[in-house]
Amino acid sequence: MSSQISPYKSAGGGTAALQGFQVDRRMGFLPPQMPLPRLPAACEAWEATLDAATSQRFKAAEQLIGLDGPQKFIEEGKALAWRKLVDKMPVLPIDNIKGCERELRRAHLVLTFMVQFYAHTTPPTEVFTIPRSLTVPLLGVSRELNHAPFVTYSDHDLHNWSLKDPHGQDAIPMRENIQPQLTLSGTTDEAGMYLVGLRMELKGAEALELLSLSTKEIEAANNIDVGRITTYLTQTTKVIEELKDILMTTKELVRPEIFFYAIRPWLVGADADKWGRKWVWEGKEEVENSEEMLTKVSSPTAGQSPLIPTLDAYLGIEEDDSKRSFLDRVRVYMDHRHEEYLQSLRLGKKTIRSFIQGIAKERGPNTPVVVAYNAAVQAMKSLRDAHLVIVTLYIIIPSRKMAKTSEMGAKLSIVDASLASGKTGDCLHEEGSGVNNEHVEEAAPMVHQVPELLKILKGFRDQTGKTCVE
Ligand code: HEM
Repeated sequence: MSSQISPYKSAGGGTAALQGFQVDRRMGFLPPQMPLPRLPAACEAWEATLDAATSQRFKAAEQLIGLDGPQKFIEEGKALAWRKLVDKMPVLPIDNIKGCERELRRAHLVLTFMVQFYAHTTPPTEVFTIPRSLTVPLLGVSRELNHAPFVTYSDHDLHNWSLKDPHGQDAIPMRENIQPQLTLSGTTDEAGMYLVGLRMELKGAEALELLSLSTKEIEAANNIDVGRITTYLTQTTKVIEELKDILMTTKELVRPEIFFYAIRPWLVGADADKWGRKWVWEGKEEVENSEEMLTKVSSPTAGQSPLIPTLDAYLGIEEDDSKRSFLDRVRVYMDHRHEEYLQSLRLGKKTIRSFIQGIAKERGPNTPVVVAYNAAVQAMKSLRDAHLVIVTLYIIIPSRKMAKTSEMGAKLSIVDASLASGKTGDCLHEEGSGVNNEHVEEAAPMVHQVPELLKILKGFRDQTGKTCVE
C-alpha cells in the first residue's frame, strides 16, 4: 500500500485522488527516504569544495563590517583563496545525476550553499560574478527539479537531514533521531533552527493525515460519521498545539544574537543584497530557460514551508489580498509537487469549513463538531501568536537594537566572542572589541521593514481568528 497521502481535489465537484505529491503519511513534506549525505564520485569536486568552505567557518562580509586590522585581513584572505578554488573548479556535467531525485536534491543543496558562501564572503566593494563552475550545474539541476536556483527552505530543511542513529528508526522516536546535515555558519544555533523546522514538519504530518481523513469522510457523502470528524478535528487541535510547543523550543536552541548577526547574513538572497549588488551569473546563457529561473531570487524563510498554508487551506482559513499575495510569492520556492498539492486545496471547495457551517446552521454553534473545528482554528491563531513572539525576539528586537545603538561592529565582535566561548549574549560585555564604526550605519538591516512585517503577520493571525464558525 502506498504511504502517500491522497489529497482530494474538490474543484468541479469530483473527488479524484491526486497521486505523486510527495506528501508522506509519516514524514509529511519531508522526503520519506533520508537525503543523500554525499554525492557520487563524479560530483566529488563540489562536495570537497563545500567541505573546504564549511571547515573554515568563514565570516560573512556583513560580519566583518566595522572590523579592522589583522583579523579582517585574515578572514578576507581565507575566503578569497576559497573563491579562487571555486573559480578554477571544472564545470561538471550533470548527466550522471539526471533522473535521480535524491542526487539532484543533494546537488541543489551543495551548489546553492556554495553560491551563498561565494556571494557573502565577497567584500561589498568588489564586483562579483558567480562563476560558471557553479552557475551552469546549478541552473541545470534546478531545471531538472523545476525548482528555484537559490537556496530555499526545501534545501536547508526538507532535504537537509540525517538520522543520528540509522538503525534506531523504530526504537528512537523520529523527532529525537533526526538532525540537520549542513549549516552555513557552522553554529549549533543554525542546526537548532533547522531542527525546529524538521520536528514541526514531522509533527505536522499527523495533522495533514487527520485533515485529509476528515475531508474524505465528508466527501464520501453518504452516512457521514460526524462523531469521527469531531475526533479527527480534536486530534488536529492537539497536533497544532504541539506544533506551537515545538516552535517555542527555538528559544532553547537558537540564541537571538547568533541568529541575527551570524546566521541571517548567510541566508540573504539576491533580492535583498545588503549593498544592492546585482548578482551576475557567468555562463547562464548555456542553460535553457535561465532568465526565467533567475527571477526566483528571494531569500529563504520558513514561510516557504508548505505545512502551515496547507493546514490553513484544509481548515478553509480565509485569504485576504495580503495573504494571497504572500502565498503567491512564496509558493514558487516550494517543491513543485507540494505547491500543486497546496494549490489544489487553496483553489478547491473548502470542504471541512462548508460542512461545519452547514452543521452550525442546522444544529447550532455548540454542536461538538463545530466546537472541535473552532478549537482547531483557535489553535492555528495561537500558533501564529507564538510565531509573532519568535519574529519579535529574533528579528524585531535585534533590528531595533542595531538601529538604535548603531554599533554593528561592536555587536559583531560580541557574537564572535560568543561563538568562540560558547557563552550566550546575555553574559557578554563589549570591552576591547577593537572595532571601527565607520560603516556601521549601512549595516542596520530590515529596520525600515519592521512595521510592515509586523502588520502583515498580525494581519494573518487576525484573519485566522475570524475563521471561527458562529
Ligand atoms: C528563528 C525562527 C524564525 C524566524 C526568525 C521567522 C521569521 C519569519 C518572518 C520574518 C516571516 C515573514 C516574512 C517572510 O517569510 O518572508 C515569517 C513568516 C512565516 N513563517 Fe517564520 N520564522 C521562524 C521560524 C518559523 C518556523 C519554524 C516555521 C514553521 C515551519 C515558520 C513558519 C512561517 C510561516 C507559515 C510564515 C508565513 C506567515 C503566516 O502564515 O503567518 N517560521 N517567518
